[in-house]
Amino acid sequence: MNSYIKKYTKKELIEDTGRVSWTSPSNIALIKYWGKHGKQLPCNPSISFTLNESKTTMDFSWSIKDGGKDEIVLDFYFENKKNEAFENKIRKFLEDNFELFPFLKYLSLEIESTNSFPHSAGIASSASSMSALALGLCTIEDQAFDLNQSEEEILDKATYIARLASGSASRSVFPGIVSWGKSDLEDIKSTDEKAATVEGIADVFKTYQDSIVIVDAGEKAVSSRAGHALMEAHPFRDVRFKHANDQLALLVEVMKSGDVDQFCEIVETEALELHGLMMNSSPSYTLMRPNTLAVIEKIRAFRSETGLPICFTLDAGPNVHILYPESIKNEINEFMINELTPLAQGGLIIHDKVGSGPERFL
Ligand code: DP6
Repeated sequence: MNSYIKKYTKKELIEDTGRVSWTSPSNIALIKYWGKHGKQLPCNPSISFTLNESKTTMDFSWSIKDGGKDEIVLDFYFENKKNEAFENKIRKFLEDNFELFPFLKYLSLEIESTNSFPHSAGIASSASSMSALALGLCTIEDQAFDLNQSEEEILDKATYIARLASGSASRSVFPGIVSWGKSDLEDIKSTDEKAATVEGIADVFKTYQDSIVIVDAGEKAVSSRAGHALMEAHPFRDVRFKHANDQLALLVEVMKSGDVDQFCEIVETEALELHGLMMNSSPSYTLMRPNTLAVIEKIRAFRSETGLPICFTLDAGPNVHILYPESIKNEINEFMINELTPLAQGGLIIHDKVGSGPERFL
C-alpha cells in the first residue's frame, strides 16, 4: 500500500474554500537523467543545482464541489490567460494519478501560473512548473483536511508527486545540490522515487553561478519525452547508464573536495555525452545549433587563456548554461558581454545561481 494515498470523507473537510501559493525554481542537471522505465523511474541517478531566479509561481484556489464525483474540475490560467493545452496536460496527470489525489473528488481547483523568465527565452521548464504543482496539491490536501503535516512530510510527498509529472521536477523541491535516483554512494540519499539534498558539498558550489546564453528560443524539434523513449533501444544504453553512475561518483567526490577544475571537466563531458546520445539515437537528431558550438569554443578558449574555472553544461536544447564560482563573477561578466552576447538570440543571457528552493506564500 502506497503510504501517500490517503482516504477522506467529505465530512473531514475543514474549510469550504481556500488558497495556497508556491514559487518553485527550475534546476540544471550536472549528471543527466536520460532514459526512464516503469512509472517515471530513472535509468540512472542524476544530480543538479536548484536555481534561484528561473521559477514558476502557482496560485491555487480551491472550493468544495457538488457531490463526490471522480471527475476533475480544473481551470488553468498561464500568465493571466486561460490555457487549455496546459489545463488538459494537468487534468490528464491528475486523472492518471487520481488515487494519489482522492480529495479532488470533493474539491474544484483554479490554478494561475506565471514564470519569472521571459516567455520568449525558450527555457520554459517542466521542472519549475511541475514541482510547483506538486507542492500546491500536497499543501491543499494538508490544509483542507487539517492533516497538520510537517514541512518535511509535505516536501517528501511533493518530490514523489513532482517526479510522476516530470522526472527532473522531483529535484526542484529541494534547495542547493540535489540528487534523484538510487546509488550505492554513501552521500546519495535519493531513491528512484524521490529526490534528496546532497550533503557535504564544498561551500564554493553552494553559491555557484549559472548564466544561460539563449542561443535559440524556438520550440525544440524533439521533446525530452521522445528523447527518453529513444534510450530504450539505444545502442549505447548499457554503457551510458554505467558511465552516468561512474561520473556521478567522480563528481560527488570533486564537489566535496571543492576542486572546481575537475568539476569543469566532468560536467562538460556529461553535457556532450547527452547530446552525443541524441546524435546516436535512431532516428538521430541534433538539438545543438551552430551558435551552441560557437559559445562552447569561446568558453574553452577563455578558460585556457585565463585559467579561470568556467565551464558549460547543456540541457535537452540549444541554450548554453555557463557555470562558474561567484568569486570570478566580474571577470566572467565582462567576457560574456564582449564575447557571448553577440552569439545569443536577441543578446539574451539570463543570470541565475544556486538557490534556496521553493517558497510558500499562502
Ligand atoms: C536533459 O524531466 O523533462 O534535462 O520526465 O519526461 O518530464 P520527463 O523528462 P524531463 O527530462 C529532463 C532531461 C534533462 C536532464 C535532467 O534534467 O536530468
